[in-house]
Amino acid sequence: MRIILCGFGVVGQSFAKLLESRSEDLYARYGLKPRIVCVFDRKGSANDPSGLDTSKLIDVKKKYGSVNRYSGAFDNTSGTQNINNLEAEVLIEATESNYKDAEPGMTHIIDAMKRGMHVISVNKGPLALAFPSLMELADYNRVLFRFSGTVGGGTPILDFAKNSLRGERIVSFDGILNGTTNYILTNMADGMSFDDALDDAKKKGYVEADESLDLDGLDAAAKLVILANWIMGMKVTMPDIKRTGIRNVDSDEIKHATEKNCAIKLIASCNKELIVAPKAIAADDPLCVSGTLNAISFTSEQSGTQTIIGRGAGGIETASSILRDLIDIRNESTKT
Ligand code: HSE
Repeated sequence: MRIILCGFGVVGQSFAKLLESRSEDLYARYGLKPRIVCVFDRKGSANDPSGLDTSKLIDVKKKYGSVNRYSGAFDNTSGTQNINNLEAEVLIEATESNYKDAEPGMTHIIDAMKRGMHVISVNKGPLALAFPSLMELADYNRVLFRFSGTVGGGTPILDFAKNSLRGERIVSFDGILNGTTNYILTNMADGMSFDDALDDAKKKGYVEADESLDLDGLDAAAKLVILANWIMGMKVTMPDIKRTGIRNVDSDEIKHATEKNCAIKLIASCNKELIVAPKAIAADDPLCVSGTLNAISFTSEQSGTQTIIGRGAGGIETASSILRDLIDIRNESTKT
């Protein structure tokens, strides 16, 4: 299975390392022999049809800030040129999410699907802005489109709702889908001011380069869009979400919630409306997780409410979700 990897940041590098360390077991257990034939970042590309050397890629990226000197000379080939000229079965889109135009990820995904490649995206931008049309494009081109890592990182939230609860009718769900704001709100409940809690989260490397994605609820809203489309069969995009971030949550509000044995959390909910907003929830509700954890409670017609909890971010955790999608693609595409 030949793979083109778009983006070589923390997630891309973790995935390359994971493939290398698991190669024997992947072949023995799943008959999967993945080979990364091209990696590109903002500045250029690295190519080898027989498979790139992961340690060398990581060294080159560290030394030059790009993979573009993998073979010595600069390789300035753009991502789009690679996608449109190389032969591969799977494209993995791991460039940064943005919610203005979702580029360059959007073009990478569209071009790959048009060329008949299956796509795995951990980039939320294209899904948040164009989920319904990307699903149509995948169907039209008879390719598989997977995106487990976009919601919950390594925690299989989408799989749980789609597969473990198959046959059920999920009527609503509520989730803490952004680890950074959960960390900030948890620290505020322990007495820190918003500014100190934000600084602390920054120091720990939790906050997105554009802090607005976390603080103004854009990241949580993107995940809500993905869940609403994939799990509830809705056809919605970012503008359909009513969104309020955590910037206006003050210490008094938090204190007041604590006195009532509650905690203020940034909740993404799908009930009659799609809403991301701070909300007080009971401290003994399974959803009320602290620190950077994510949690989501699905309420179904027959089986009641079930909550899944786990880490929602991190390089290696998200890399494991890509591997899950890759195995799924291998299984689905070899079915006759
Ligand atoms: N900024 C995100 C979070 C990263 O804090 O959950 C994972 O999508």
